[in-house]
Amino acid sequence: MALKMSSNSYEHASLLQHPKRKQKRILPTTIVLIILTFIIYRLTSNNNEPFFEAKSKKKNVIFFVSDGMGPASLSLTRSFRQYSQNLTIDDILTLDKHLIGTSRTRSSDSLITDSAAGATAFSCALKTYNSACGIDSNKNPCGTLLEAAHLDGLLTGMVVTTRITDATPAAFSSHVDYRFQEDLIAEHQLGYYPLGRSVDLIIGGGRTHFYSTAPGGSRKDGRNLIEEAIDDGWQYVGNREQFDQLQMGKNVSLPLLALLADGDIPFDLDRDDTKYPSLEEQTLTALKALSEATEDSDKGFFLLVEGSRIDHAGHQNDPSAQVREVLAFDKAFNSALEFINDLDTETIILSTSDHETGGLVTARQVTKEYPDYVWYPSYLNNAKHSGEFLKSTVLSYNAEEHTMNEKEDFVRYEILENFLGIHDYQEEDVKELATMTNPIDIQRKINYMISYRAQIGWTTEGHSAVDVYIYGYSNRKTSWLQILENLQGNHENIEIGQFIKNYLKLDLDKVTKLVKDTDHSPKLSTKEVEELPLFDEYMHQLKNN
Ligand SMILES: *[C@@H]1O[C@H](CO)[C@@H](O)[C@H](O)[C@H]1NC(C)=O
Ligand SMILES: *[C@@H]1O[C@H](CO)[C@@H](O)[C@H](O)[C@H]1NC(C)=O
Ligand SMILES: [Zn+2]
Repeated sequence: MALKMSSNSYEHASLLQHPKRKQKRILPTTIVLIILTFIIYRLTSNNNEPFFEAKSKKKNVIFFVSDGMGPASLSLTRSFRQYSQNLTIDDILTLDKHLIGTSRTRSSDSLITDSAAGATAFSCALKTYNSACGIDSNKNPCGTLLEAAHLDGLLTGMVVTTRITDATPAAFSSHVDYRFQEDLIAEHQLGYYPLGRSVDLIIGGGRTHFYSTAPGGSRKDGRNLIEEAIDDGWQYVGNREQFDQLQMGKNVSLPLLALLADGDIPFDLDRDDTKYPSLEEQTLTALKALSEATEDSDKGFFLLVEGSRIDHAGHQNDPSAQVREVLAFDKAFNSALEFINDLDTETIILSTSDHETGGLVTARQVTKEYPDYVWYPSYLNNAKHSGEFLKSTVLSYNAEEHTMNEKEDFVRYEILENFLGIHDYQEEDVKELATMTNPIDIQRKINYMISYRAQIGWTTEGHSAVDVYIYGYSNRKTSWLQILENLQGNHENIEIGQFIKNYLKLDLDKVTKLVKDTDHSPKLSTKEVEELPLFDEYMHQLKNN
């Protein structure tokens, strides 16, 4: 306690040390120097339980999750940007400058995790089975970082580009046995469960699970959670125009519920800026709102930011969409860094992935001949839209109003040449794309045509077990050293959750006791659950697209 350290005691120390006051004061000066040396030693030495910190010290945590981003995504994106913007080979991403370690990602029941178990490893700091959100491996609700932070008086927020009810945000703000229980996840996120409300700010997609009316709403129970939320005092934002009124966070009243799409926010490559904000805008809006709202408090905030759709581009094996998703994520990360540099409150940023998706490699060299050591970013640069977007464009070209020749011309000149910049296609490709009726077949073929030409390899349409990167940053030297001591090198994913828990001194067990009676099981038999083809986000997409 005697050495309770803050920036104030620094100032105090330097005042004491004032050199030319009196020559005779050799003894006090020596004592002061000894004390100072000790303080500096404490600050720079190993400190898992830094005793110089007051328990109630104000801190913020910003936790970035790049869903499905593996090491190859970084190499892919770096080379893409150097190529497309004519930059030198030393041009790297902001993320690259803050790499500190790698994370192992397996879940309790599989060497390959899904996003639900991957996110629960962070949120509850424990290993659980694939599909579980905020639930442990014995199917009991587990207290999350976000809930514990809120109970401790911090403000909390979640920013995503997919449905807010998707696995990653769900694992922080709900308790469900299976990730497909998105209607129930939405209820928990608004506070309709024993613990009450623990989320103060939501920005993302997924409106569909908050209301019941067709065509956009899909809740099965007829409830309109948006109206209920407004009645409960939430500020609701449902489109870009209303989002702009938030004035990048300067005009926000908490709690804020911003649901900007029924499903996912479009890929950054396809995003119409007049309809949807970027991840960077969403993040800065959240940061500004949360830091202003905590300005006069002695507690900070916890913010989760997910680059959700890096994963979708991986599932779809779409390299053109993925590089733009990673760039959008990097931009948001960079802006958060700059934001906290100007912030008085001690703030740390951690960023990692829950797993890799797609088995992506920047090479495609399984040939009878000796392979060429090349891959071609130009094909990614030429693509003006994702396979997901163009699939719909092909399908919406109404065959009834046009002859097959006209449709083939549309595929040839509009889709392949204009939108994808592919000129060396075969007539067979044109015929296939013009006649395919299954949307996923069209998407798969378009993405294959790009990947093949760019010489990009994919080994799966699902996840892989490769280790993913951990990034860290802080606006204080002391907490930066704490991050390094705990997360430098190779770690289990749960250690990242444990670190945040320790850093904020959160009591997860206390929350676990409070949420134990949460309604978390689907009203289905185990057999019915097993038959549901909805365990994976890819299956969800197959169903929804
Ligand atoms: C790319 O940059 C190099 C120098 O860095 C320059 O010589 C070249 O003209 C540039 N090319 C384009 C297309 O801008
Ligand atoms: C601030 O938000 C309110 C709605 O909450 C809106 O009526 C007002 O126009 C906004 N102000 C600005 C400057 O956009
Ligand atoms: Zn994931």
